[in-house]
Parts: sequence; structure tokens; C-alpha cells
Amino acid sequence: MRLIEGQTALVTGASRGLGVEIARRLAKRGLDLVLVARSEEALNGVARDLRAETGRKVTVMVADISEPTAIAGLADAVARRGGVDVLVNNAGVESSLRFHERTAAEIEQTIAINLTGPILLTRALLPGMLDRGRGHIVNIASVAGVLGVPFNEPYSATKFGLVGFTRSLRLTARASGWSVSASVVCPGFIGGAGLFAELQRTYGVSSDELGVCPLEEVGPAVIEAIEGDLPDVFVVQGDIRQLVAMGAVDPVAAEQAMLGSPGTAMFRAVADARSANSIEQGVVR
Ligand SMILES: NC(=O)c1ccc[n+]([C@@H]2O[C@H](COP(=O)([O-])OP(=O)(O)OC[C@H]3O[C@@H](n4cnc5c(N)ncnc54)[C@H](OP(=O)(O)O)[C@@H]3O)[C@@H](O)[C@H]2O)c1
Repeated sequence: MRLIEGQTALVTGASRGLGVEIARRLAKRGLDLVLVARSEEALNGVARDLRAETGRKVTVMVADISEPTAIAGLADAVARRGGVDVLVNNAGVESSLRFHERTAAEIEQTIAINLTGPILLTRALLPGMLDRGRGHIVNIASVAGVLGVPFNEPYSATKFGLVGFTRSLRLTARASGWSVSASVVCPGFIGGAGLFAELQRTYGVSSDELGVCPLEEVGPAVIEAIEGDLPDVFVVQGDIRQLVAMGAVDPVAAEQAMLGSPGTAMFRAVADARSANSIEQGVVR
């Protein structure tokens, strides 16, 4: 879909991290914005900055996308304002932990935020896009959506789910002759802001060998996905790029490479640290 000045994009998870950067790039292309997350104060700050920087109309909607009722409320509010042309399902939570130490509640919450929420929000906004005869949905998955990532079973499962959901929706769109389409963007490790940068700050993990991509590459990848109507777009560098390709043709070699990668060492270190913290704090998992 060609992006045209005056169209509107709804970006979830726009209170910090990748969502802010994606919203900024879309606004710079002339799109008005609807920013969604749970933190009202942070959203208002981002909205103020983006209005000043781009001159676009920026609306804030506070919603928890793990709540189906909140999604229904969001869809009603969007419909009252004339709908959206672009939906970026970006909100997501990372959850590196030893699998047998996870609680059922944490697993369910990860699935609700990372997978059920984006699917339900797409379901809620798609009819409006079909009525208006245009629209594009971009789901932000991860390299963990095409490669198994250790110590991240629920996260990886949700991201594989988003990749599958998007590919399936694209085929439905084509088989039905819709003028609405969908893409999935799979970042590797992104530096500067976002959940990986936060892991680096909190746990002191090194980025030297990990193939970290700059934050500034994420927004253009989203725009490329929309305007090129691309199925999967990877934002990766170095060894991760090879690992993704290897995963598709030689799963045994990819598994060995993943086990020996700095990424595995990092996720193990984060899971170990969280386990030690929760033992100290008496958390029962
Ligand atoms: N950063 C990376 O290196 C990287 C790599 C691969 C994939 N990704 C994916 O990129 C996306 C963005 O990640 P990020 O790095 O920007 O993470 P982040 O900095 O932790 O930001 C996550 C965003 O999601 C929002 N969010 C979380 N739970 C929510 C909920 N229940 N309802 C509504 N909003 C919610 C947060 O806002 P509130 O807390 O205010 O609600 C925040 O705006 C995620 O899907 C992530 O899996 C990131």
C-alpha cells in the first residue's frame, strides 16, 4: 500500500522502545498517529514530542492489549474517529527465564500480550479497513519467531505464532481479492532503545558479538514492508542473518550454531540472574 499524507497509523507499544521509532518514521512520512500502550504519562510525552517534531496529529489511547474488553473499546474509539489505514502490532514483552521456574500466570500473560492481543486487534480493525478499501497490518515478531531461542519458550512460541498468523492472513487476503494486506517484521537484537537495550543495561550483557542492529533501521523496515507489500522482513546483521537462512535449510546445523552463539550465553545469563533474584526475594515459581 502506498503511504499518503493524511492517512492514519495505529501503533501499539508506542510509549517507549521500538514503537516510538516506528511511530516517528510513519509521522515523518505524513501519517497521523494513534499511539497505544498502558502508560498514559509516557504516551503523552511521546505524543508531545512527535507533534512538535513532525506537525502531525497524534492521538493517545491508553489500553492494555492483553484485555479483550480493552481491545473492543480501542476499536470503538478508532471507528468513531474514522478508522486507521495502518495497524502496527508492536507491543510485546520479553521473558527470558528457566522454563520449569515459570508461573502459569506469566506464561498466559506473555501469550495474551504478544499473540492473542495482536490477533484480536487485527480482527477488530480489519472490517473497517475492508470497508474503506485500503489497509496494511504490520506485526512485529522477532528472529525468535523463525528460530527457537533458549530460555524463551513462551516468547518464541508467540513470535512463531505471529509469523504464522501473518502468513496465513496474507494468503486469505490474496485468495479473497482484498485491498488489505499484512506483513511481519522480525528484528534480531536492536540497540539504543527497547527490550534488548534494557537487558543490556540491567544485566550488563555485551553486544559486541551479537550482531546488534541500530534502532534507526526498524522504522524504514516497517515502511518497506507496507509499501512493498512484503511478507517477512528481517532486521538483522552478521551471524544472525546466516543463522536465519540456515534454520530454513539445515535445522540440525542451525541448532548447533544457536547453542554455540553469544545469544544463547546471554539468554542463559539473564535466566540465571532472574532465577537467583527470585530465590533471594522468596518468589515461588
Ligand atoms: N528490542 C529488540 O531488540 C527486539 C528484538 C526483536 C523483537 N522485538 C519486538 O519489538 C516489539 C517492541 O519491543 P521493544 O524492544 O520496543 O520493547 P519495550 O521497550 O519493552 O516496549 C514494549 C512496549 O509494549 C508496550 N506494552 C507492553 N505490554 C503491553 C500491554 N499489555 N498493553 C499495551 N501495551 C503494552 C509497552 O508499554 P506499556 O508498558 O506502557 O504498556 C511498551 O510501549 C516487541 O514485540 C518485541 O518482541 C524487539
